[in-house]
Amino acid sequence: MALSVWDALAIGSKTVTYAATLNAAGAAWFLRYCHGLLVEAHRRRIRRIVFALAVLSLCGGAVQLLITAGSMRGAAAGMLDGSLLHLAWQAGAARDNAVRAAGLLLVAVGMLSQRPAWFAMLGAAMAATSFAWTGHARLLEADISPFLLGVHLLGAAFWLGALAPLLIVSGHGDISRIAAPTARFGAAAIYVVAGMMAAALWLLSLLLGGVAQLWSSDYGRIALCKLGFVAVLLCCAAFNKLRLTPRLLAGDAGAVSSLRTSLQLELMLGVLILAATAALTTIAGAPALD
Ligand code: HEM
Repeated sequence: MALSVWDALAIGSKTVTYAATLNAAGAAWFLRYCHGLLVEAHRRRIRRIVFALAVLSLCGGAVQLLITAGSMRGAAAGMLDGSLLHLAWQAGAARDNAVRAAGLLLVAVGMLSQRPAWFAMLGAAMAATSFAWTGHARLLEADISPFLLGVHLLGAAFWLGALAPLLIVSGHGDISRIAAPTARFGAAAIYVVAGMMAAALWLLSLLLGGVAQLWSSDYGRIALCKLGFVAVLLCCAAFNKLRLTPRLLAGDAGAVSSLRTSLQLELMLGVLILAATAALTTIAGAPALD
């Protein structure tokens, strides 16, 4: 599979848009369900991060549009061609960008109150699921596929978006202030991650159309790569939940630096997973759609 410069640019900008959107949504939820457990300084930092990620997400969407127009012409001049930009907008960018922007606006406004407002949670869900408005899942005959992708995206945002806030929280000098939000996230994450994975595996089976496609198609091979990264991420998450959280709850200060290292590793793996996903949805056609 030959990768053009336009493909590489499209994958890069999509990865940034995924990362910014899912992290903004998940961090907004984290701020609400852990609000009472956080000190004001940490709440302020998380709020600032949510705002910055919302802006980055919108910029990422705009850059993606420019790159799509440029790739249609096969030259940078295409990025400034109004008719190509219009075509790219109508070809699929319109609905998901509009839903994402509306969701992020709700998040930003809802973040202004002391405890994030309920409509900010709704906005975060709109932004996270905006990717389900276009793409392979929409083209499948099975009506359930956009729903499965929506569930998958909500779970991915919940998981990924809690990592940066937890990293911030882990800088607190009082271990009980670290242990409580980590335990609260971990208790919910078990169910959320299980639901997210079930929806994702179901969707993958629909898009592949057969197990053999996992190794015989480009789509399957990229999906295998993604599954490999997810497996390592799951190991880190299990280590946090089963080993580090009980030590934190018992007041063991030695667990804090391990938690920070594990969270940083999880964030890096998150970027790799999103890059693999961007490749999956940009350069590989789903076998079931051939
Ligand atoms: C068991 C693990 C997972 C499986 C089987 C899986 C599978 C899938 C599949 C089949 C799609 C649809 C791709 C397409 O439209 O062709 C998808 C989309 C997506 N996945 Fe996953 N995934 C998994 C874990 C994750 C994780 C942990 C993250 C985040 C860190 C993630 C982020 C995404 C995103 C952002 C999309 C949206 C792509 C789009 O439609 O634009 N996935 N996933």
